[in-house]
Amino acid sequence: MSVLHIIGGRRLSGSVPVQGAKNSVLPILAAALLSDDICVLHNCPRLSDVDASIAILRHLGCRVEQEGDSIAVDSRPMCISEIPHRLMREMRSSVIFLGAILARIGEAELSMPGGCELGPRPIDLHLEALRAMGAEITKRSGNLHCQAARLHGCEIHLSIPSVGATENAMLAAMGADGDVVVHNAAREPEISDLQAFLCAMGAEVSGAGTSQVVIRGGERKKLHGCEHAIIPDRIVAATWLSAAAAAGGEIELTRTIPEQLSTVTDTLRRAGCQVRTGEEQIYLKSAGTLHSVRPIRTQPYPGFPTDAQPPVMAALTLAAGTTLFVETIFENRFRHAGELARMGADIRVVGRVAVVTGVQQLSGAAVEAADLRGGAALVVAALAARGESRISGLAHIDRGYSGLEDTLTLLGADIRRRPEPPIS
Ligand code: EPZ
Repeated sequence: MSVLHIIGGRRLSGSVPVQGAKNSVLPILAAALLSDDICVLHNCPRLSDVDASIAILRHLGCRVEQEGDSIAVDSRPMCISEIPHRLMREMRSSVIFLGAILARIGEAELSMPGGCELGPRPIDLHLEALRAMGAEITKRSGNLHCQAARLHGCEIHLSIPSVGATENAMLAAMGADGDVVVHNAAREPEISDLQAFLCAMGAEVSGAGTSQVVIRGGERKKLHGCEHAIIPDRIVAATWLSAAAAAGGEIELTRTIPEQLSTVTDTLRRAGCQVRTGEEQIYLKSAGTLHSVRPIRTQPYPGFPTDAQPPVMAALTLAAGTTLFVETIFENRFRHAGELARMGADIRVVGRVAVVTGVQQLSGAAVEAADLRGGAALVVAALAARGESRISGLAHIDRGYSGLEDTLTLLGADIRRRPEPPIS
């Protein structure tokens, strides 16, 4: 096990590119199952979640080659339709493979994805969407047994604009013999990137980015290989901006799509940072003296992203005044508050509301990441804190941040990853 050692209090400066989006490459790797040829993905981040997806593709019989930030998937040899628990438990979002396996093979078996650190992560909307297309799904001793000799067109009405359920419906619909319309679809940029990939394979999909996605029926047969570049990771961009806001300094992010994180840049601007955007760049300058902002409510896209709540909260623990955070998406997404308090932050959590009162200074401490974005929040706070912090629980952080310490070192941070000393 390793630990991040960070000596805080150094201003950040410099220019870094932003990695490809984890939450885009994962569904697109599942979608690659649908092609009768080779698909090549570029700008793929090197992450443990990507490794977990590649392991699943190989288990299903696909050939997968990874070179640098490119991944080639040849799903022609695919012959297996079940994902064992040992692979499912590596990444709960592996449920995204269900729709693609059903569309490709007509049956699927995988273990029920458990909850995660953010709370129970139900998949009822995923299953309702697949059943609407004609899939027969039974749960037996913790496994999902799915049969879909024939998937048909239908209208799906999601009660929540679920990202994963929208993606699973789009992938299963590739095997339907009629049009599928997803109402109240999630509008996240990652949905649009998945649509772009499916269209590059030859499918007819439209409406992504709006609440209604339409998938033309009978597409599976004609899907061919393609090349596709994954969009930048808007949450990683939000994390680096939060770090510079908190520690002070001036940084430039390249290879971004600024409008995809405008709710975050607007918030940091209102907190006292100078923020400018270009075609693919975001520039932020901060004196490190922030002030509180009006309440931040997390919402489905295009609202304030729940994944950016932890790193932005870490920055605003140093903002003069009080900021209210309301977490409307997940029920247990303030686990970083306790660890930030160990560094001197003043955060009171009541249910889905966190009241953050700014403090003059944070102090380095030994803290532990409990989930991916909560871990990112601890890194942001450690960069701004006086003294040394030691952050454990890096397996969470490594799921979503590729080369975190390399990027932050380029920006002037004093950060090193060291083996954890044995418990004496
Ligand atoms: C995706 O998770 C992302 N993960 C999450 O990012 C992100 O926080 C989330 O979307 C919201 O934007 C990936 O894309 C791999 P949802 P997902 O289905 O699809 C409830 C990160 O840090 N719900 O949109 O699982 C659910 O409990 C991760 O990168 C149901 O009730 O999110 C939640 O309250 C964390 N039934 C809400 O909907 C369902 O069948 C939104 O979940 C599905 C979801």
